[in-house]
Amino acid sequence: MLEKIVILDFGGQYNQLIGRRVREAGVYCEILNYAAPVSGWADESLRGIILTGGPNSVYDEGAPRLGREVFELGVPVLGICYGMQLINYALGGTVEHAQVSEYGHAMLHTEDCPMFDGVSRETAVFMNHTDRVDRIPEGFRIDAHTANCPVAAFSCPEKGLYGMQFHPEVRHTAEGVKMLNNFVLDICGCRGDYRASDMIETMLGEIRAQVGDGKVVAGLSGGVDSSVACTLANRALKPGQLTCVFVDHGLLRLREAESVMQTYRDHLGLNVIHIDASGRFLEALKGVTEPERKRKIIGEMFVRVFEEEAKKTGAEFLLQGTIYPDRIESGMGGSATIKSHHNVGGLPKESLFKKENLVEPLQWLFKDEVRQVGTALGIPEHMVWRQPFPGPGLGVRVIGELTREKLDTLRLCDAIYREELEKAGLARAIWQSFAVLTGVRTVGVMGDGRTYAHCIALRAVVSDDAMTAEAAEIPYPLLKRCVSRIIGEVPGVNRVVYDITGKPPGTIEWE
Ligand code: XMP
Repeated sequence: MLEKIVILDFGGQYNQLIGRRVREAGVYCEILNYAAPVSGWADESLRGIILTGGPNSVYDEGAPRLGREVFELGVPVLGICYGMQLINYALGGTVEHAQVSEYGHAMLHTEDCPMFDGVSRETAVFMNHTDRVDRIPEGFRIDAHTANCPVAAFSCPEKGLYGMQFHPEVRHTAEGVKMLNNFVLDICGCRGDYRASDMIETMLGEIRAQVGDGKVVAGLSGGVDSSVACTLANRALKPGQLTCVFVDHGLLRLREAESVMQTYRDHLGLNVIHIDASGRFLEALKGVTEPERKRKIIGEMFVRVFEEEAKKTGAEFLLQGTIYPDRIESGMGGSATIKSHHNVGGLPKESLFKKENLVEPLQWLFKDEVRQVGTALGIPEHMVWRQPFPGPGLGVRVIGELTREKLDTLRLCDAIYREELEKAGLARAIWQSFAVLTGVRTVGVMGDGRTYAHCIALRAVVSDDAMTAEAAEIPYPLLKRCVSRIIGEVPGVNRVVYDITGKPPGTIEWE
C-alpha cells in the first residue's frame, strides 16, 4: 500500500523543496494548504505530517493556525521554522520576537536523539527567521542549539512531535537530507520504496475512472509534460476516445512545429491534429505589453481552440500536462503567486469544459518524476530530456508588444544559440537556454555606418526544478561565437548580452 507524508503549507518559500526531499527519500507526499480539512487527507496511508515555514508570527492577528486534531492523528509531526513555532505555541510554549532576523549559515550543536541520528555533533544549517521558540512546552526536550538560537530543535518523542528552527530542505543545510530521511524513514517508519514510475498503473486507473466512456481533447505542446500526459491517456483510453491537439500559436521556435509533429506521429503513435492559430493569437495580443495579460490572453485562446475541437469531436474532457510545481508556483498552496502559468490559471469563467472535467494525470509529480514516467513509457530520450518551454512560448521572451517581425528576429537568434550549445554538448546539462528580445534598441557601428538595432539577451540556467536557478557558466569562446554569428547572420540585431542573474532574485524567463 502507498505510504504518504502530508506537508501542510504555511506559505514559506522552500515548501516545494521539502516535498522534493521527501520524494527523493522514496516516500510519496502531498503539499496541501494548511487549512485543508483533515478529513480530506488523514487516511490509512498517512505516516507523518510536516508543517512548513511561513512569513507570519504566531501572535499576528489572523496568523495561520492549526487545529489540535492534527496532533491527535497518531502519526509523527515535524514543524519546520514557523511550523515549529506553531507546535510550541499550540502546546503552551512561548515564542519571542528577536530584535534582529537571523538569515544565512549557522553552526548547529546537536544532541543524541532520533532526529540527529548519524548527523555530526556540529553541522552547518541555514536559518531564515525573526521569531524563535523561547519557553518550550512541558515534556519537550531541546535537541539542538546555535549561538543565536538556544532552541534550534526540540522534540517530545512520546507524543511524536518534533521541531526545527532551521531549514533542513535547502542545500545549505549540509546534513539536511539525512535529517529529513531520519524523520520520514526512521521516525515515521516509511518503507522508502516509492518510485514515480510505480504510479503509472494508478494514473491509468484514475484517467479511466474519471473519463469512463467519454471523449477527451488533449493539449499537446511539444514539451515533456504534455507528451507524457497524452501518452498515458492514449494507453488508458480506447481508440477514438482521445484527440490530441497541437496548437501553433505563432510563438514557437524555429521549425518547432514540424519536428514536434513528426515525433508524435512517428514515435508515439498519437492521434494528433495540428492547428495553425498564429493569426488569431497575434491579433488578440496586438498592443499588449504587460506579461500577466499576455499570459491570460494566450491561456484563454488555447482553451478556445480546444473548445472548438471538442465541439467537433463531442469531447467533454480536457487533458493537460499540469505538473506539481505549476500548481504550487501559481499559488495553489499557501505561497505567493509569482506568475500565472497558463495551464494552471485554470479555465476562463465561461467555458465549455467543466472544472471537474479537467484531466491532469501528472498534477502530483515533479519534473524529474515526469521524466522517469516518460522513460518507463518508452518515450524517446530526446523528447523526455527536452528543455522546458513555457506555454506562452516566445510571447514571454519578446519583451513588450509582440510583432511578427520581432518574433522572426528572435527565432533566428534563438536557433543559432541553441545550435551552438548543442554542438558543444551542453544542451542536456543546462536546464533551459534561450534568447530574449529585450525590447531595447542600442547604437552600434557596423562597416562604416551607425546602426540602431535590437539588443538580444542570451540566458542559460542550471536548476533542479525551476524553483531556484543559477546562470550557467558558458565558456567565453562559445559565447563570443554566438555573439558574432547572431550579429552577422540576423538582420536588425547589433548587440548581444549574457544574463548572469540567478533565481532568486530574477526569474528564469524575463517576463
Ligand atoms: P520562471 O520564469 O517563473 O519560470 O522562473 C519557471 C519555469 O516555468 C516556465 N514558465 C512557464 N511555463 N507557462 C508555462 O507553461 C508560463 O506562463 C510560464 N512562465 C514560466 C519557465 O520556462 C521555467 O521553466
